Amino acid sequence: MKRSLLTFAVALAFSALAHAAPINATLVVEASKSGPRIDPNIYGQFVEHLGRGVHEGLWVGEGSSIPNVRGIRSDVVAALKRIKVPVIRWPGGCFAELYHWRDGVGPREQRPRGVNRAWGDEPETNGFGSHEFMDLVEQIGAKAFVSVNLASGSPAEAQAWLHYLTDPASSGAGAERARNGREKPFAVPYIGIGNENWGCGGNMTPAYYADQYRQYLSVLKPFGTLIATDANADDYAWTETLLQRALFRHPPGAAQASPLAWINKEPQLGMMSLHFYTFSGNDWGRKSPAVGFTEQDWATSMLRTHKMDELITRHTAIMDRYDPERRVGLSVSEWGAWWEKDKAAPSNLFQVGTLRDAVVAGLTLNIFHDHAERVQMANLAQMVNVLQSLVLTRGPKMIVTPTYHVFDLYQGHQGATRVPVSLSAPAYRVEGVDLPSLSVSASRGEGGRLTLSLVNLRPQDPIRLVIDLQGQRFSSVQGRSLTADRMDARPDFDAPDPLQPRAIQGLQIEAGRLELTVPAKSVNVIQLNP
Ligand code: AHR
Repeated sequence: MKRSLLTFAVALAFSALAHAAPINATLVVEASKSGPRIDPNIYGQFVEHLGRGVHEGLWVGEGSSIPNVRGIRSDVVAALKRIKVPVIRWPGGCFAELYHWRDGVGPREQRPRGVNRAWGDEPETNGFGSHEFMDLVEQIGAKAFVSVNLASGSPAEAQAWLHYLTDPASSGAGAERARNGREKPFAVPYIGIGNENWGCGGNMTPAYYADQYRQYLSVLKPFGTLIATDANADDYAWTETLLQRALFRHPPGAAQASPLAWINKEPQLGMMSLHFYTFSGNDWGRKSPAVGFTEQDWATSMLRTHKMDELITRHTAIMDRYDPERRVGLSVSEWGAWWEKDKAAPSNLFQVGTLRDAVVAGLTLNIFHDHAERVQMANLAQMVNVLQSLVLTRGPKMIVTPTYHVFDLYQGHQGATRVPVSLSAPAYRVEGVDLPSLSVSASRGEGGRLTLSLVNLRPQDPIRLVIDLQGQRFSSVQGRSLTADRMDARPDFDAPDPLQPRAIQGLQIEAGRLELTVPAKSVNVIQLNP
């Protein structure tokens, strides 16, 4: 054998060995201890009038040949119901800041036709308005989160909307709703005051927004949990100013002087919100394509996703100073992957979800669990046909995305109690990226069942994991794993789903330990039953 060939063969053998050498990790699950409850609303969704997010994706109209109940497509409702979608935010997004609710009530044929100036000047029929949204929410068994219009609306308009939705039919506003077909008041537990008011919601400074919030608060407080919007990623000054000016009825200083100082003990915010999107890197202008990306793109997407942990930690630290008793929640009202625009996409911001999206979702949800003390809600952007969706439609066809499977796998965490874990795993290092290879979350749910979610961020290497259950006894164990050969494996409308999670074979607890191989680029959930 020639020398160069020999060197090549040896190098090949070494690299094969290096690949085969298992990467080891250990996990201790302190199954007898418990942390905070994981609010089911962390699994919430976001729907905006954008592309086919509403029209076609949810709303087909009563006369459609696509099976529907009162115009809302039945295949999509069934899929969302199956994963117990807990809460849905609507009507936007930037669209909410141009939306006037009166355009979307009353006989459909008489509703004004509009133009969606927030998203590509697409025609807006207003066929899907308040009654249709509330019907959707009720068909799914979710809760409603409406965002009121601050940039082009008024406190009076928002107040009238809430009266219309929630007052008894014996009142003027309730009677109008009843005439429009709904006698019983709707339940609207969550009300967002505006959307991204530093940007499409009015280009406001944080101080100006905080003062606007105070005004909306004074008329909307009786209606539900108010959510102040929306710190943009690492804009910590937004959070600081908002809390300083709007957390209590009287700004600091005035409180002591006020004869009504006692009022100041009551926080005026139910939650405050944060918006943060994943792409590869940190440059909005240079995202990676949704499919056909490189391993470097993969790694920088994971790095960006992981930043959610730092953002929540730092916003929470500010909240802890103003609200040490943790009465105010944090809602991550928009999150998800936003990839490069695909010119061939059938509608605005339509993306094909891949295995990468599933790993982004698993990692993000684990981070939310880690911050369950503060994070009380999160809304994936967006539920159907827009950005990191749960389901995609093409005419009468519907498919579920890799992200949907993650929400399905993670159902055991909804409402469960977080369990402390300690993980020792090597880092995933590539140029400019240094992250833990594994992300793990554990919780105790119904009947004491332990749910473990394990996400392997490494696109090439499986990880041999030994889990120490600290002497806790379990009668049975089962698990499911979502992975594929390709980083951009994805479902297709005309083929079987390559990302359908599969049962993990051979799981067995021996001497209080569970050992398994966590496949490369995978999301896995294991359930241990007492
Ligand atoms: O989700 C798409 C858009 O992203 C929303 O309308 C806006 O709030 C955010 O910038």
